[in-house]
Amino acid sequence: MIPQPFIHDLLDRVDIVDAIDRHVPLKKAGANFVACCPFHNEKTPSFTVSQTKQFFHCFGCGAHGNAITFLINYSGLSFVEAVHELAVSVGMQVPAQPGAVTSNQAISEGVAVSKDTEDHAHSEISKQVLVSALKTATQYYREQLKTCEKAIDYLKQRGLSGKTAAHFGLGYAPTGWRNLEVVFPDYQSANTRDVLVKAGLIVSSEDGKQYDRFRNRVMFPILGPKGQIIGFGGRVLEQGEPKYLNSPETVLFDKSHELYNFFSARRAIREANCVVVVEGYMDVIALWQHGVDYVVATLGTATTTLHIQKLLRQTDHVVFCFDGDKAGRKAAWRALENSLTLISDGKYLSFLFLPEGDDPDSYIRQHGKASFERQLSHAMPLSEFLFKELCVGVNLQTDEGRAKLINDAKPLLQQVKASALSFLLLNRLAELSGMSRNELEEVLRIKRTAKSQAVKNTSRKQPASPYRWIILALLHDPAYIVKLDRNLLVSSDGKNSEVVALKTLIEFLEEHPQLLENKSSSSLLTYFHGNPNIALLENIESEILEWSDVIDIESEFMGAQERLQQIQRKNRMTELHNKPLSELSEEEKQELQRLAML
Ligand code: UTP
Ligand code: MN
Repeated sequence: MIPQPFIHDLLDRVDIVDAIDRHVPLKKAGANFVACCPFHNEKTPSFTVSQTKQFFHCFGCGAHGNAITFLINYSGLSFVEAVHELAVSVGMQVPAQPGAVTSNQAISEGVAVSKDTEDHAHSEISKQVLVSALKTATQYYREQLKTCEKAIDYLKQRGLSGKTAAHFGLGYAPTGWRNLEVVFPDYQSANTRDVLVKAGLIVSSEDGKQYDRFRNRVMFPILGPKGQIIGFGGRVLEQGEPKYLNSPETVLFDKSHELYNFFSARRAIREANCVVVVEGYMDVIALWQHGVDYVVATLGTATTTLHIQKLLRQTDHVVFCFDGDKAGRKAAWRALENSLTLISDGKYLSFLFLPEGDDPDSYIRQHGKASFERQLSHAMPLSEFLFKELCVGVNLQTDEGRAKLINDAKPLLQQVKASALSFLLLNRLAELSGMSRNELEEVLRIKRTAKSQAVKNTSRKQPASPYRWIILALLHDPAYIVKLDRNLLVSSDGKNSEVVALKTLIEFLEEHPQLLENKSSSSLLTYFHGNPNIALLENIESEILEWSDVIDIESEFMGAQERLQQIQRKNRMTELHNKPLSELSEEEKQELQRLAML
């Protein structure tokens, strides 16, 4: 909604060092500025900010971006909010956005506001309207809780204090089918009811009747990435099915992404450098009341890769704390399967199974914080849980049993990219199966080269491949594209990720020639948000942070092109050599001679 040229100007005007320093004090270190990374826990600073290139990069956790992304990730602002904050700081005025409405305006005017605006604007406005509707509903539910004795009694009987209920914004949806009719003054308008349906607050029955989704339930508001309410969980007071009713998935609420209490716990998670994942709302709440505040819950769904990714960005240590029963172990196994590809060395995942019959809520109420944290510290490491489960029902005394173990372990171990962990898992499998490491590596076809470790270590040195140098040169100064011989890329390996990234970069610069003249200081990668090559490009860009004055980028760039020429020449020669001499045409023979002489 905000015009791209404005964002460009803004990033040119803002100094990322000021923008970050306001939140995280930076220290000068050589050409750059550094601090302990606000996105993961560390004792020595690896969070580095380049003033000349206007981006930040953390060598510890890989966080990377510009001033806008910093505010989004650090302060939890939306893109638009981050742009506004930066604009204010440099005295710029964000151009009026067509169709934008304030949220209180939004709900009374309903979706009618967006009718005559463009499609993409439509979905944006709808989101605002939905957020506003959910906020109004939350206020209403909270008011209701204050006056409903049986709901208050229920929460008291579950041990919750008034402070805890207020902290989590708990409420009560009274009995009755159309309470929201009074809450939303415009309820009679079809537009408003449409908003309420889309927000998941009312339900349309088959015969066209509409009624409140949540009735006679304690309400747990669920917050989204910006702290806005995106949905609810609702629990029956006594018996009744379902025990918990959750908001349906809406444009705001994606259960595979969202975690209960994630927004509020972010700081605590970073400080503890640990997050506990539990199954229930009440578990989160009881733990919080007892002083364990680095806790989130899944929302009645399995733990997804997205959940784990989100958590690993905040912390190195994730403990899954599930019930000790069969369902709990199954949920834990799903979490394990979904995390294998995400673990890197230095990350630590573990599993805590409470005694049968206990959940975190009952456990902490009975045994207290210290005992619960002791349990946490003895949680089962992922590697142990993995083999424990794989060995269930397998007789390791027999060849068949050991073969089954290897077979079951294979698809799991193959997903582990963390090299040290993968090494240890393989050792463990070797012990259990009686096969040697080498034999196992062959059977599992795991190329556990020392490479991934080596790449990590050398990634802070000079880039090796010519493609990397060319990418670096273009990121440093897009004008290098003029000196780039495009033919050199024609025969390069289309599957090589560096080649793919380079081609994306070239294509982009060709489409945006204005970027060549306009010597902007902001990083090109601003425009690559969401691009599949972004991680690699960010990694390459981060090398700029370690340049000294000694590096002559011009000659490195030319040198890289020469190396590509040589590679191309050799490839072509091999190709020609591989043909029987009798099949070579006269031109090909001449070409071969010419190439050999170069
Ligand atoms: P549990 O059934 O384990 O309940 O559900 P609990 O958390 O111990 O609940 P209390 O202590 O009896 O209040 C765990 C989670 O599974 C989801 C909810 O997110 C709940 O917090 N759930 C459970 C549902 O979505 N629907 C249900 O009917 C039950
Ligand atoms: Mn419970």
